[in-house]
Amino acid sequence: MSNELRLGIAGLGTVGAGVVKIVEKNSDILAKKCGRGIEIAAVSARSRSKKRGIEISGYAWEDDPVALARRKDIDVFIELIGGENGSAKASVEAALDTGKHVVTANKAMLAVHGQYLAELAEQRRLALRFEAAVAGGIPVVKVLSESMAANRVKRVLGVMNGTCNYILTRMESSGLSYEEVFAEANGLGYLEADPSLDVGGIDSGHKLALLASIAFGTRVDFESMDIEGIDRVSITDIEQARDMGFRIKLLGVAKLTGKGLEQRTQPCLVPADSPLGRLENATNMIVIEGDASGQIFLQGAGAGEGPTSSSVLSDVVELARGQRATTFGQPAASLVDAKPVCSDLSAPFYLRMTLKDEPGVLALIASVLGDAGISIDRMRQYKHEGEAAPVIMVTHRTSPAEIAKAISRIKTSGAVLEDPVSIRIEEI
Ligand code: HSE
Repeated sequence: MSNELRLGIAGLGTVGAGVVKIVEKNSDILAKKCGRGIEIAAVSARSRSKKRGIEISGYAWEDDPVALARRKDIDVFIELIGGENGSAKASVEAALDTGKHVVTANKAMLAVHGQYLAELAEQRRLALRFEAAVAGGIPVVKVLSESMAANRVKRVLGVMNGTCNYILTRMESSGLSYEEVFAEANGLGYLEADPSLDVGGIDSGHKLALLASIAFGTRVDFESMDIEGIDRVSITDIEQARDMGFRIKLLGVAKLTGKGLEQRTQPCLVPADSPLGRLENATNMIVIEGDASGQIFLQGAGAGEGPTSSSVLSDVVELARGQRATTFGQPAASLVDAKPVCSDLSAPFYLRMTLKDEPGVLALIASVLGDAGISIDRMRQYKHEGEAAPVIMVTHRTSPAEIAKAISRIKTSGAVLEDPVSIRIEEI
């Protein structure tokens, strides 16, 4: 009887085709590392005839991914269809129902149905693995669940969406507006079919929700996450932040506070000379802070054929070796509900104000901030433009609630020509 691990691959887009290429090209390495061969038994996709740069005539074909998942001649079902529900979820359920392990790159499905699917898999003594769902080629799921298993994780944060990082760094290097760079990124094919998944912060939120579950032993809770995208980030803020020694990044941040689980995806300032601040283009970086390990930085390609397929196959290798890791680093039934909390932890803030260029205006702003208990760390006033005096401040640590209160007072103080902008500075 053949000892090979037989794969059924549903979805032959960039990642699916990449998986086929690596299995074919590196079959010798895979066999050595696993102690057995890996073979593709059957595939499924929307179109059988589409050109993909791979030859699929040697594999059995199914039009329906659910039928593929149910085939008797596969051991592992690889779901690369995407989407929260529909045939992705139906085929994963079918695979688990019929005794197949599942490997998926589908963060949207897991962010919403991860708890249910993990419990389903574990009740049947099957594995549901998702290394490729978070940060493409970066092996963060395994690092967090295995290498850091002895740690009490204090915080997980990072740049988890390459498209947003590309847009923000390109705005800075070109001086172009958000709208212009968005159009450019679209032309380069960087954006998801629904661009709001990227620029609206949702994709980053999906990934963060999965990492938070592993990090804190909590049930995946995407619904409670605070999500803000990058569409309000202006070229002015990027340039002024740089002038003050910062760069703007779309960060995902998860932390267990004394009150509950804080999860947020939002544009933040980070020091320009920090590893996160130096992150260019579509690269991803995840930072994990363990009580024993200290800070761990993982950097790499967050998307693309090679990196994402490499992660898919890392899960396949694990299964071929007979390892049966749990989905979220501990039995799914033992994950606990965490109370969702909004961030009320103190942080420094960046404030940009367009003041009226009149006597006493700066004193008025300083007194509003002083009354709110907000202390100014640094301040710069730029050359006035007509009636307007642009002012940037960096505050000492203060609570987000105090900043919001001060901003609403400043808006109605008669001292500003435009609504002030405030952006949190994430300490790293
Ligand atoms: N659209 C994602 C990104 C890649 O830009 O990082 C897939 O998760």
